[in-house]
Parts: sequence; C-alpha cells; structure tokens
Amino acid sequence: MINLSVLVEDFEKRFGKNHRAFFAPGRINLIGEHTDYNGGYVFPGAIEQGITAVIQSNGTHLVNLYAHDLGIGCTFDIRDKELHADSNFRYVFGVIRELDKRRVELDGFDAVYGGDVPLGAGMSSSAALECCFAIALCNIFHCKLSNSIDLARVGQAAEHNYVGVKCGIMDQFASIFGRANALVRYDCHTEEYEYFPWNPDGYRLVLVNSCVKHTLVGSPYNDRRASCERVAKTAKVSSLRECTWDKLEAVHHKLTDEDYRRARYVLGELDRVLEVSAALEQGDYETVGRQMYLTHEGLSRDYEVSCEELDFLVSEAKRLGVTGSRLMGGGFGGCTINLVQDEIYDRFTGEVQKSYHAKFHRSCQLIPVVISDGARHIDVQ
Ligand code: GLA
Repeated sequence: MINLSVLVEDFEKRFGKNHRAFFAPGRINLIGEHTDYNGGYVFPGAIEQGITAVIQSNGTHLVNLYAHDLGIGCTFDIRDKELHADSNFRYVFGVIRELDKRRVELDGFDAVYGGDVPLGAGMSSSAALECCFAIALCNIFHCKLSNSIDLARVGQAAEHNYVGVKCGIMDQFASIFGRANALVRYDCHTEEYEYFPWNPDGYRLVLVNSCVKHTLVGSPYNDRRASCERVAKTAKVSSLRECTWDKLEAVHHKLTDEDYRRARYVLGELDRVLEVSAALEQGDYETVGRQMYLTHEGLSRDYEVSCEELDFLVSEAKRLGVTGSRLMGGGFGGCTINLVQDEIYDRFTGEVQKSYHAKFHRSCQLIPVVISDGARHIDVQ
C-alpha cells in the first residue's frame, strides 16, 4: 500500500483537513485465465498492492480529482454525462456514471488518489481504481448497493462502457472479496464462491514482471472474447462453460481453426481449475504447478496472448526447476506467476533476472506475493 500520509498531506494542501480514506487491492490469479467471461471458474487472491483514495464530499456539484502518481487533476460536474478531461480519469468517471445508472445518489466530492500496483503488469490496477472509488463513494454518500457483487459489477461496467474493454468480473471480484491468506474460487456462472486457505508450506508465489507494458484497451482481448462467443453460438450453448468436449468436436468443421483453438484452450482451462482445486485440498503443489505450465502452453499456443518475453520467463522457470509458472492476467505483456520451492527461491530469482537482462537488454521486476484483504475503509491517524 502506498504511504497514506503522503496522500493525506497532498489532500490537505488542496482541499482541507476533513477526509476519509479507502483502499482497494490488485490481484493475482492462481489458475483460470480467460474463463470468467466464458461463465467459468477463476482462482484469484487480493494482494497488498493497490489504490488508495483520500476523499470527502464537498457540498457542491463539482468533482475535483487529483491523481497523485500522475501529477494531474481535473474538475467536472457530477451530472456530466461525458468526460472532458484527460482519459486517465475515465475509470473514476465511469464508476460515477455506473453508480448513477443504479440510482445511487451522489454529489460533488474532492479526492486525491495514488497507488503501488505496477501499471500494465496484469495485476489489475484498473480494477483496484474502480473498486476503490465504488466503495469510497457508497460510503461517503451513505448508500448501499443491494450486495457486494454489485460493487464489483459497477467496476466491470465502468470498464466496458467508459474504457472499452469487455473484461470479465474476476479482477473486480477479487478486489472486493479478497481475504488475507486465502485464495477464492469463484464460479462466474452461478456466482458461488469458496475460500481456500493459502499457506503453502515449503513454497512461495512470486511474480516476475516482464515490464512489457500490456494494455487491454484496443488490444485483441475483445477479439478473444468474440471468438469464444462465436463458438458458443455455433455449439448452441449459452457460454463455453456449457460446451462439453463432445459438443465442441461436433461443430469443429463449422469453426475457423483459430476459433476452434481458442475454445480448446478455454475448455482445457475449465478442467484445470477443478484439478487445481482438488490438488490444493490434498496439499499437492506439484500437481498445481504442472497445471500452471499447461495453462501457459494453452495461453501461448492456442489462445495466443503471450509474447516472446513471457514465454522466455516461463521456460527459464522450468529450466531452473520451478514447480509452476505461467503468464498471469489478460496477457500481451505483464507478469508471470511462479510457484517456487523455498530451497530454490534465491537461485531462481537471481538467475532469472540475469538471464532476462542478457536476452532482452532490460530488467524484469520481482514481486513477492502476499495474499491480503479486499477493498476497505482505512483509518487516517
Ligand atoms: C483481464 C480481465 C479479466 C480476465 C483476465 C484473463 O484481467 O480484466 O476479466 O478476463 O484478463 O483471465
């Protein structure tokens, strides 16, 4: 979490002494990638990095936002239907509009926000921002959505309608529902979820950020989703979650090779999440790791959302004896997630940095994972 006193000081300089603070985290995902918008399972956890907002209502109709990390601000009327400001503010603007559509009564407010989730690393900095403002605004204006999943949906809808990424619900779900020391398996179809304690004796999770910036805006992310929807339609099912291997084979001849491979990846991934759930219950981390490598293979060859740098990081992890490794999140850059035995942790982290630099003439960034609580109010001392 970013140092709160820095944001508070900035807020007080701009807007005065009366304020509250809220935090929403980014996320990791153990397994279940590109399954959320196919009605499948995901297996995320909230992390300690996230977005913090210092905020207060101001008794006017004006919204004054200041993005501390970017050093830019903007002002608009809470009733504005379009944003006439830097596009970085569309996430917050989108949350306001989506709350308004749900008849949440908002008014003017002042906010300074910042965070420590690396941008474009596949760790859901945008969901953290959306969820932070969704809970902050509901709190300062004393309104409640009917349940917490609706808060996540506000963030997702902001992303769809004001950013243009047709994302699933995983990132916002994890940011709101995360719990310290537990991963949560979420069924995006039935909306049921279950917490799995995460204390893997003898293993650690570490992210390796390729520092290849991924942006899902204008990326082929939406194309992947469209492929999946085409296959579901051809197979006459409501989502790929309902599509069995037999049903997929039955329509194989009607699909382009590309759409077929996209669906083949998704069906495989849906199976893998269940295998990993069973393995976790047995404390069988070797199986978890094997499935992670298989996910990467599918994401790289069939779903085609990897890149040279991510493939290299995963192959290095394999060479160095890491239990499991794969690209994490939407892809096209960002991080790998690695399940590493304690004994080889130092060797892996040291060597991967060296070999990455030798190959690409730039550094990768190591980010140890601490599974933490979801979005919340924080005390300002
Ligand atoms: C991004 C999206 C999520 C999910 C992942 C891939 O993070 O925001 O909804 O689809 O990619 O699993």
